[in-house]
Amino acid sequence: MATIVFIQPDGSRETHAGMPGQSIMDCAVDNGVPGIRAQCGGGCTCSTCHGFVGAAWFDRVGAPVDDEADILEFVPGRRFTSRLTCQIVIREDLDGIVIHVPAPE
Ligand code: FES
Repeated sequence: MATIVFIQPDGSRETHAGMPGQSIMDCAVDNGVPGIRAQCGGGCTCSTCHGFVGAAWFDRVGAPVDDEADILEFVPGRRFTSRLTCQIVIREDLDGIVIHVPAPE
């Protein structure tokens, strides 16, 4: 199990447990985290699971894969630390990872 810390644009935060092998998006949706809508269900086609990986975690998570990078190019407000949370698989070494939820468009 790994804990995921979701921080909203207003600074409020919630922490949820995720199981290794599921995605951070799955954890967010299972727990009703606002702002992670995941309309394509993890198909890497909608970008509504966009999040900013906490800077201290980005190297450990790694850069987007090719298809993901293509989608992120069109995401408003994209940053260097942007990822589609459906493409981040929870691992034990990501315990405590911080994901900043983008402000609504
Ligand atoms: Fe659609 Fe992640 S859930 S791209």
